[in-house]
Amino acid sequence: MRGIILAGGSGTRLYPITRAVSKQLLPIYDKPLIYYPLSVLMLAGIREVLIISTPRDLSFYQELLGDGSHLGMRFEYAEQAKPRGLAEAFTIGCDFIAGEPCALVLGDNMFHGQDLSRVLWRARESVENEGGAVVFGYPVRDPRAFGVVEFGDGGRVLSIEEKPEHPKSSYAVPGLYFYDGKVSDIASQVEPSDRGELEITSVNNAYLADGQLSVQLMGRGMAWLDTGTPEGMLKAAEYVEAVQSRQGYYVACIEEVAFRRGFIGADELRSLGEEMSKTDYGRYLISIADEAERA
Ligand code: DAU
Repeated sequence: MRGIILAGGSGTRLYPITRAVSKQLLPIYDKPLIYYPLSVLMLAGIREVLIISTPRDLSFYQELLGDGSHLGMRFEYAEQAKPRGLAEAFTIGCDFIAGEPCALVLGDNMFHGQDLSRVLWRARESVENEGGAVVFGYPVRDPRAFGVVEFGDGGRVLSIEEKPEHPKSSYAVPGLYFYDGKVSDIASQVEPSDRGELEITSVNNAYLADGQLSVQLMGRGMAWLDTGTPEGMLKAAEYVEAVQSRQGYYVACIEEVAFRRGFIGADELRSLGEEMSKTDYGRYLISIADEAERA
């Protein structure tokens, strides 16, 4: 399975912070925002990732993440000329996907929780073995800013509505989606919505119309954090700081995930840590390599 991170957009909702810097490069506590969604793809065992951003910002992502070989991965990069909508990820990424199953994660979505790896593997296996699409439902107090699931009898999914004024449930659809190899074809047929965007919700509704969409509900133990406002970013940073200082385990440490998933070995992890040994982050990597070698 391949993965796409969509890290473009205009960022106007965070002005003036994002006037000169791409939102997904901003720090959430001790690491760039894009590390969080990247770690999600890695936890799903995905090693080939396409990073899509604006013509202005793409080179900064290349500088930050390189070709991925230091993580035992392969990164490709592509430009989205204008923020025409999330579904465009699959037409821009058509050659990269090459008809394989694919996961899309939005570059500003953060997930954390005990069950996360299991949830991700289940979604991945489902689209790889049975085809179709898997998206998630996450209860939020005010779902009007999101795609929202409408349920019928027995929990059957009737529709997904994009930013409805009158939501039919409290279940928002987070920015994490798993699709079979048909997704580029389906996305290429999507028409712009009333607000002029190629909506991911249209892709999901196309799968639903074919009886091929599964909506898996995320439970209370899962955190899906908002980074859409300065307050959301501050709260997300506080969450990460609280978990890391209390537990001693890092959230979304991509080098650690690469090591624990077997993409790189302890020696490679240690040298990544040594490059950053002036920071707690770098020393954390070294401590994990030491621990693994003692075991
Ligand atoms: O966060 C989950 C929500 O993401 C879903 O519930 C909605 O169904 C989905 O439409 C999307 O809604 P948003 O209003 O959050 O989308 P936004 O326009 O903010 O874009 C999400 C991220 O993707 C943002 O970091 C910018 C980036 N982006 C956005 C567009 C429209 C791109 O890279 N390219 C684009 O063309």
